[in-house]
Amino acid sequence: MRRTVVAMTALLATLAAEGRERVNFDSDWRFALADTATMARPDYNDGHWRRLDVPHDWAIEGDFYAGHPSGAGGGALPGGVGWYRKTFHISHFSSLTSHLYLEFDGVYMNSTVYVNGQKVGFRPYGYSSFEYDITPYVREGDNVVAVRVDNSDQPNSRWYSGCGIYRHVWLTTTEPTHVRHWGVHVVTQADGRVTIDTDIDNPTGAKLSVAHTVYGPDGRVVARANGRHAAGDVYRSAFSVRRRVLKLWSCEEPNIYKVVTTVKAGGRVVDEVETVTGFRSFRFDAETGFWLNGRNMKLNGVCEHHDLGCLGAALNEDALHRKLLKLKAMGVNAIRSSHNPPAPELLAMCDTMGLIVMDESFDMWRRRKTQNDYARFFDEWHERDLSDLVKRDRNHPSVLMWSIGNEVLEQWSSAEADTLTLEQANLILNAGHDASTLAKDGEESVQSLLTRHLADIVRRYDSSRPVTAGCNEPSPGNHLFKSGALDIIGFNYHHQWVKDVPKNFPGRPFIMTESVSALQTRGHYMMPSDTVYVAPKEWWLPYTDPTYMCSAYDNMHASWSSTHEETWDVVKHTPYVGGQFIWTGFDYIGEPTPYGFPARSSYFGLIDLAGFPKDTYYMYQSEWTEKPMLHVFPHWNWLPGQEIDLWAYYNQADEAELYINGNSQGVRRKERSDLSPSTSPEGSGAVELCTEYHVGWRVKFEPGEVRVVSRKDGQTVCEQTLRTAGQPDHIRLSIDYKGRQTTFVTAEVVDRDGNLCPWAENQLYFSGDVTIKGTDNGCQTSMERFTAPQRKAFFGRCMVVVKGSGTLKAQAVGLKGGVLKIED
Ligand code: GAL
Repeated sequence: MRRTVVAMTALLATLAAEGRERVNFDSDWRFALADTATMARPDYNDGHWRRLDVPHDWAIEGDFYAGHPSGAGGGALPGGVGWYRKTFHISHFSSLTSHLYLEFDGVYMNSTVYVNGQKVGFRPYGYSSFEYDITPYVREGDNVVAVRVDNSDQPNSRWYSGCGIYRHVWLTTTEPTHVRHWGVHVVTQADGRVTIDTDIDNPTGAKLSVAHTVYGPDGRVVARANGRHAAGDVYRSAFSVRRRVLKLWSCEEPNIYKVVTTVKAGGRVVDEVETVTGFRSFRFDAETGFWLNGRNMKLNGVCEHHDLGCLGAALNEDALHRKLLKLKAMGVNAIRSSHNPPAPELLAMCDTMGLIVMDESFDMWRRRKTQNDYARFFDEWHERDLSDLVKRDRNHPSVLMWSIGNEVLEQWSSAEADTLTLEQANLILNAGHDASTLAKDGEESVQSLLTRHLADIVRRYDSSRPVTAGCNEPSPGNHLFKSGALDIIGFNYHHQWVKDVPKNFPGRPFIMTESVSALQTRGHYMMPSDTVYVAPKEWWLPYTDPTYMCSAYDNMHASWSSTHEETWDVVKHTPYVGGQFIWTGFDYIGEPTPYGFPARSSYFGLIDLAGFPKDTYYMYQSEWTEKPMLHVFPHWNWLPGQEIDLWAYYNQADEAELYINGNSQGVRRKERSDLSPSTSPEGSGAVELCTEYHVGWRVKFEPGEVRVVSRKDGQTVCEQTLRTAGQPDHIRLSIDYKGRQTTFVTAEVVDRDGNLCPWAENQLYFSGDVTIKGTDNGCQTSMERFTAPQRKAFFGRCMVVVKGSGTLKAQAVGLKGGVLKIED
């Protein structure tokens, strides 16, 4: 039998050393998509298994298929049971001097971990981070970790979940006396006050000293303090950082502090732990909305699922960073980790990039939304999962609120969700305001008690942040609201109800926990653009359109939702709305509303799945950022004489003028208009060609050049030109984002002069001496494998994701190829 012996130099060094060492445990696993009980055994021969590093998602490697039990809602990708095994070597070991912990940031789902054939633990929730003490199971010499991952009971999610060990794994060694997992809790105040609780496992009862050193954003020490033994195993320290040197954490200046906690026994360091923190003050006000550091501002947020497009659920820091950068450039200042605990790296990036986080726990409680979802584990596991979330994330300066659930069916009394199909559940989710299902006055319902119970769990571990929930029942009779346990009233959609919030919830702060759900395909324009298309008209009606596309003008949405402008208008002009979390920033895999298979990814994003912004991205940029910008669309390749609506988003200017082939088509100014077409009984209507948020011209197409100039006080602010493209000629490659290991490259089909050919659908083939990790074009119905090295251009472009440095080549029949050198 051949086994992989991993030389873990760091680990070996650690076992002999003092204190703590945490090493990455991602590399060199063996994987098989198979299942027998013997796979847990240390002597099982895994020599023929595939060798890989985690994070890994096996589902993203599969083919789309209507018959996969995840359904189109889950991305039509496979599930199943997979095993991961890893052999590691320990040369000297004694449990008297060392403890070993294996930490998983996330395994989707139902993971069972074995060490040397012995079961160490089971964790059903695929989004929780967890750690096992493997000290009793390891021995000197070779050790085998085996992880069984079971994502076979599907559907268990309303979106694409991914399958496998899709986040990092860590191996930590400590001395027997050490700080417990997530055992340091730092609470800061904007005036410099700091309280730190340190929870220490001290099996010998030795006398300990606990000291904290606080480092400022520039790396200099700003405070030192000692902890005193408080209750149980907890040491407490309360001190202040001098105000004079204090730099607050904000979205514009995310100043980060670091606390190093040192534990000594008999004068010897036995443990040292680092914690990131920051100082800021914030509040949610019933009349004035959200305040950060004394400044009134809106939460300009987006909801995000965890997948990273063609890379699937497998965590990739470069892809995540690119995602957040693009959102930040749009003006986003807040992220909702919908509807589950995020990767720890997301929070770390939000800390340093100045993005506020709503950290969410669950999409369901006891009542399920899909056949096999977490509801079946809720009773047994919710307390553990929720407390672990709070303990893991409570030190992050970016986390400003907790959400205990999204659109849980416990909002209503008589939703017999356990016997409902997903379609029936949707009826309650999106159309259920039947008074008989709401809480009665004076009633203490089970649902309200459960709400309070969950909010209490959060407050047990963190009382410094408000608790909210994303509710789609906006009436005060909602059992969650009725519980009185929510610090912030949060509802999803229902922007027409916002005006009644002060009456319905007097004295309570309010945010739109989720909003908009407009539907768009990048590059597809449904005209006339001043008609609003509602798809489906009612949730239970089928919606068909042979294109399987939605309109990239902001003129299409689902029956429960609105255009972007319509909701933003309410948020912008209603002072007591603290902000909104738009559904969604990026498209995600699964939930292809309003279509079914072969659509397999969402239409909701402001940015498509490949990472190309859709046009409405720029509407927010014009409203949420200061830098002068202008965005004109659509492209300029139409039939002669065809009537075309040209739109422009701009800021820092008071008008825009359009020229076609040098002839002015008129000056337009943004102007206030009625933006509530979807309140009409049919659920659809018309909007103006010019609103407070965009200007438009209805013109006849003639080939040539479109130029738009924005002006302030008669002076040009920005200018943009679009040209009619000729025949597709060659492929242009350019870097969209370069990370530490991963590079995103845009491939465009262009004419001889370099103009993008907006209708090009050429099949592009990628090769070279870089590793091709994935390809995508943002098309919601593409059946090409995400991991394939080829992709059709979609409205002229696609994206290829590569690892490493070297040369990338793109080829296509009938086009001149493209070459790009990716430097180290
Ligand atoms: C909401 C739900 C989201 C997503 C969205 C689509 O009701 O919270 O997860 O399903 O609808 O519009």
